[in-house]
Amino acid sequence: MKWQMTTSTTSTSEAEGPKEQVMSGIPRIKVNHYSTFFYQYEFSLLDALEAQEIPAPYNCRGGYCGCCRVRLIEGEVEEVQDALYDTVGDEILACCMKPVSHVEIEIPED
Ligand code: FES
Repeated sequence: MKWQMTTSTTSTSEAEGPKEQVMSGIPRIKVNHYSTFFYQYEFSLLDALEAQEIPAPYNCRGGYCGCCRVRLIEGEVEEVQDALYDTVGDEILACCMKPVSHVEIEIPED
């Protein structure tokens, strides 16, 4: 199953510099208050955040506690394992999803 958010009015090509154009086939992950980086095909979005040493909350890593909820601001993600926790609105579980396009996410600040 896929989730998609499209709220930006800026086209991808306008926002990209020369380096991003070279790597345009690799999903780019933009995180609030942290850096933007390229997905290295880790198992999940949570693993990708941890690989960049971005402190993302988690507990079960199995899709049932909901601790890894983040907001999907822009882009498309795909499920890598079943999510048993019911998310609300634009929330996704970072341990259960991987990016399939450039994405922008927001990690809750509490
Ligand atoms: S860490 Fe528990 S649902 Fe993702």
